Amino acid sequence: MTTATGEKLLLELLDGFLGSKLLMTAYKLDLFTAAREPIARDALRAALDLPERSFKIVVDACVALGLLHEDERGVATPAALAPFLVRAPGKPFSTTTYLLEYYDEVYRALADMDALVRSDGAASPFKLRDYFKDDVDAIDPQVAAEYSRYMDATIARIVEVVLATYPFGQHRRLLDLCGNTGSFCAAIVAATPGLHGAFLDVPACVAIGRRQLEARPELQGRVEAIAGDVFRTPLPPGYDVITMCRSAMDWGDDKIGAVYRRVHEALPPGGRLLVIERMLPERVLPEALPMYLRGVYFLAKSESTRYRSPREHFALLQAAGFAATEALEPPRAPYEFFQSMRILVATK
Ligand SMILES: C[S@@+](CC[C@H](N)C(=O)[O-])C[C@H]1O[C@@H](n2cnc3c(N)ncnc32)[C@H](O)[C@@H]1O
Repeated sequence: MTTATGEKLLLELLDGFLGSKLLMTAYKLDLFTAAREPIARDALRAALDLPERSFKIVVDACVALGLLHEDERGVATPAALAPFLVRAPGKPFSTTTYLLEYYDEVYRALADMDALVRSDGAASPFKLRDYFKDDVDAIDPQVAAEYSRYMDATIARIVEVVLATYPFGQHRRLLDLCGNTGSFCAAIVAATPGLHGAFLDVPACVAIGRRQLEARPELQGRVEAIAGDVFRTPLPPGYDVITMCRSAMDWGDDKIGAVYRRVHEALPPGGRLLVIERMLPERVLPEALPMYLRGVYFLAKSESTRYRSPREHFALLQAAGFAATEALEPPRAPYEFFQSMRILVATK
């Protein structure tokens, strides 16, 4: 991220805080849409109706950071950034754009970060992923709808990469745990002739999933929805491949270890568990910085979310009874933000 060292490194990191806040604020003020075409500063200020001093502070800093381009025609949102920063009706979903608003909320939750660190996340006021409940019926349907919107919008490209990495044709029945609205399960089933699928998630997400499935008659009888709790609901027998995508990371070793044991019990001999998510390198590498920083967000998200390395997963899988484990490295990342995805294959 930076090549600076010593005092310069510290100052760059401190400036990073101001730069991120500036980006999110300029986006919120819709400055980038107003500057989608070159526009004179005076006209831009009038369009945004901002005081002279604060407008100049924001625009100067945006130009200096490369968030705006300035020439004799005025200031403009650079073409390379416009797809993420300029609002337009019907624009395709972009994770980066989503994060501009999401991280604004995270920022607020991190305001007292030393309290988050001391309490291991317990002091967090963050509510946008409030599914860490002992009683899954207590999950607010509105919160579930909001996070499911993000999951649904980002799953298709993950599925593409999963299908390019792992052959599901060798299986008959797939069970996707923490499968949200079933989009992952439905996409794998749709791409794999003869495969039957089921997904299990909390009732609020499964209710959305059932409605979505009704709109896909071609999957009638091929995808089943199970409302429940991955820690308590009996896992149905007869599934020869069980998947967990972007979900194992949400839970501490005790809870995810227990899920791995339940999966091992439910699988037939030779059956497989696939753990699909971003994974850390075995030792700290600067290239993995975005994942370590994402960990800072996890302090706000919950008291248990953490990325693991393949070896850390393997230890839990072996303790759960899986003798054979293998890490598959996909041919590409599903999208820029989602680097270092791995598929761990554990065979019973
Ligand atoms: C990060 S999302 C991943 C969803 C999906 N696998 C994907 O990749 O899009 C985590 C999912 O776990 C579900 N979840 C949380 N607690 C659960 C529980 N106790 N039992 C079942 N699902 C749960 C959430 O509702 C959410 O859909």
